[in-house]
Amino acid sequence: MTVYIHYIRALCSFSHIERLLLAGLIFCGIILAARAGETVDKSGNPAFRPAALWLDNHNVPINAHGGGVLFMPGTMPDQGTYYWFGEHKVAGDLGNTAQVGIHVYSSSDLASWKDQGIALKVADRPDMDICRGSIIERPKVVYNSRTKKFVMWFHLELVGKGYASARCGVAVASSATGPYRYIGSFRPDVGAWPMNTSLATHHPVGPEDRPELDKIKTDGGPYPGYPTNIIYRRDFAVGQMARDMTLFVDDDETAYVIYASEENGTLHISQLTPDYLKTAGRYVRVLPGGFNEAPALFKSAGKYFLFSSHCTGWSPNAGRLSVADSIWGPWREVGNPWHGPQDKISVSYGTQSTFVLPVADHPGAFIYMADLWRPQNAIDGRYVWLPIRWQDGLPELAWRDQWGLSEFDYTATGKATGKVTQLEKLAQIQNKP
Ligand code: GAL
Repeated sequence: MTVYIHYIRALCSFSHIERLLLAGLIFCGIILAARAGETVDKSGNPAFRPAALWLDNHNVPINAHGGGVLFMPGTMPDQGTYYWFGEHKVAGDLGNTAQVGIHVYSSSDLASWKDQGIALKVADRPDMDICRGSIIERPKVVYNSRTKKFVMWFHLELVGKGYASARCGVAVASSATGPYRYIGSFRPDVGAWPMNTSLATHHPVGPEDRPELDKIKTDGGPYPGYPTNIIYRRDFAVGQMARDMTLFVDDDETAYVIYASEENGTLHISQLTPDYLKTAGRYVRVLPGGFNEAPALFKSAGKYFLFSSHCTGWSPNAGRLSVADSIWGPWREVGNPWHGPQDKISVSYGTQSTFVLPVADHPGAFIYMADLWRPQNAIDGRYVWLPIRWQDGLPELAWRDQWGLSEFDYTATGKATGKVTQLEKLAQIQNKP
């Protein structure tokens, strides 16, 4: 109390000018505090605060986990719109299963997001694949310029079967925000052999494979003695296992699904049919026995880059980067793309990759999107978006508490390392009379 009396006495002894100065300081403090909740940086550019609570236009935390972003160019003066799709989580452990569906948000600046509702709803009918309580993860949406449809793919696990179903789910819509019509789910590439395996291996498993088949563990984690050359043969007739996944559309508009397969031990890259609704039976096995998941693939300056994680469930681990000259490989592992203290980069600052977002109108500029999972209270999982920087032709990641799109201005000064050709192509298509 005596302290407050002391302050009041001091205040009374201030001159008029001193009181004005003090009021000014308090006013600036209030403005700065308010700005902390804003989505622009000092120069007025959109700002990102990795792992901080990220609010939508209704001041509700954005609910789009394991997500991806689609950019649809507009016609001048409309600069185009980004659509962010992700898993809508609910509170508690229950949130690790699908209770609501896939949420979609829209934005023109990547920082402020408008809630556009649930793009794909879980079904109330228990006989449907995407019923409440199933697992629907890592949704991604691409636009097909031939069919003029938006096509959503996601990882689907049928209700009550844990992670054993390992299927791709597909839904389609005529507008970006949906509603999306569920088409079906399947294991990809039934009856197709991987393009990067020798003819001699192209026969389904038989009794002679029993010892190797008996070594297979199904908990999704790595183990010594993982048999690297048998699971795709085991699954030849029923289709390949597909868990953590992403989509990628190349410059020629050929689309691919990239997923953790073969009990999570091996990634597959599989070409989609021209309508993007199925796999085309052309696929390669990537890093067999490497136990990679959370794939996020992108292309820059003609090279393909793949971020992934190790397989430790919701717990974070060291990030991984692989690179290839062709999407079909060979893929070369480069190591952990993170820079920083060892204890942080050994767990990717608590995050797991989900997507790489090319920034419109900024050739060579990409945003790394990741999740910071909170499986005990799934709805409180956070988003970590970071600018990708380039070093000797390779992407690298470093933590920022805050950053803005001005980060990418360097790309305009001749240091650009890639072209966002897919976006340019889409722009041409959209702007056609
Ligand atoms: C993670 C995966 C998530 C989810 C989780 C379940 O490794 O990336 O999408 O499947 O495992 O434990």
